[in-house]
Amino acid sequence: MHYILAKNLDWLGPLKEEIQNSYNTDSKEVSGLPILKVSSELDLKGKYLAFSTTALINTEQIPEDSISKQAQALVDSICKKINPEESINLHVFSMTNKYGVLETGRAEILKDKIHKNLRKNKIRILRKKFDRSLAIVQVMLLDDRSVILSVQTSEEVSEYNSLYSPYVGGFNNVEDDKKAPSRAFKKIVEAQEILGTKISENQTLIDLGACPGGWTYIARKNGASVIAIDRSELREDLMVDEKVQFLQTDAFKYRPEETLDWSVSDIISTPDRVIELITTWVLGKLCRNFIFTIKFQGKDGYHVLEEFKKLADQCDFQIILKQLNANKNEVTIMGRERV
Ligand SMILES: C[S@@+](CC[C@H](N)C(=O)[O-])C[C@H]1O[C@@H](n2cnc3c(N)ncnc32)[C@H](O)[C@@H]1O
Repeated sequence: MHYILAKNLDWLGPLKEEIQNSYNTDSKEVSGLPILKVSSELDLKGKYLAFSTTALINTEQIPEDSISKQAQALVDSICKKINPEESINLHVFSMTNKYGVLETGRAEILKDKIHKNLRKNKIRILRKKFDRSLAIVQVMLLDDRSVILSVQTSEEVSEYNSLYSPYVGGFNNVEDDKKAPSRAFKKIVEAQEILGTKISENQTLIDLGACPGGWTYIARKNGASVIAIDRSELREDLMVDEKVQFLQTDAFKYRPEETLDWSVSDIISTPDRVIELITTWVLGKLCRNFIFTIKFQGKDGYHVLEEFKKLADQCDFQIILKQLNANKNEVTIMGRERV
């Protein structure tokens, strides 16, 4: 079975429809949790699921037992695919109907025991940071105390690039920044982590629909030079920043003179128009990395995601479609040039 996680119960419906429409496959709900189960016969390599926060692929289920016995069974399974001296990403969490993703309580005790047993087998566990070039081991405890295990070797991980999250259980809470001009800054912080590429010193970035400047603020904080486009001006300190060039023009019409490191957009417009804009920037190779949000009115417009998925397979970018934790009725499409 594959276990596909949604942000919360509200997004199970759109996720179920997406799985049906994209891959013509039925999915089953896991009682009261924002999780869908899909048969392993569906090959998820290279696939996209915009309304999923993360996925546990090709899982096995360890039945309810004492924590020590479950830990031993998990480590025995992990060791079948992971070699001694290898480093891995390890995510252990409970999915509860009340609190969502939890790393405390039974999950924390189980994690400690897995750590100890893996160390005996000389397997190294990465602390804190997530590394997409390493194997990913996910352990999810369910309400009935059974445990779902997914082990993907480093070779397999890249095949499921768009489906994983660097965050445990796909959940995160980007820290507040009181100096940011808007709460929207959280979206670009989260998207960079999911993409696995940071906006960095001396890079060039265009911010389409930039006002009041949350995204421009983050790009400047990371040291990039920004072209910010909007009909309305940004916050005063960003307007006088000599590394911010503000252009009061239509973001749909602007084209750069040379390829930029980043093109990012949080424009409020119809899904069709935003997809067209992404296509212009991506197929036209006007940028090396991109982050675009698509905002929906109700369920209208979800179909554009299906159209974009077809296009995504044909371009020279590694693409991720994901509803961020910071997204409301939005999906973020992001990508980076393949190396
Ligand atoms: C959600 S806000 C952006 C928030 C911004 N990312 C931040 O972090 O503060 C969307 C912006 O898109 C701008 N916008 C919408 N259509 C536009 C267009 N055709 N050209 C330029 N800006 C546009 C709006 O003026 C609005 O300021």
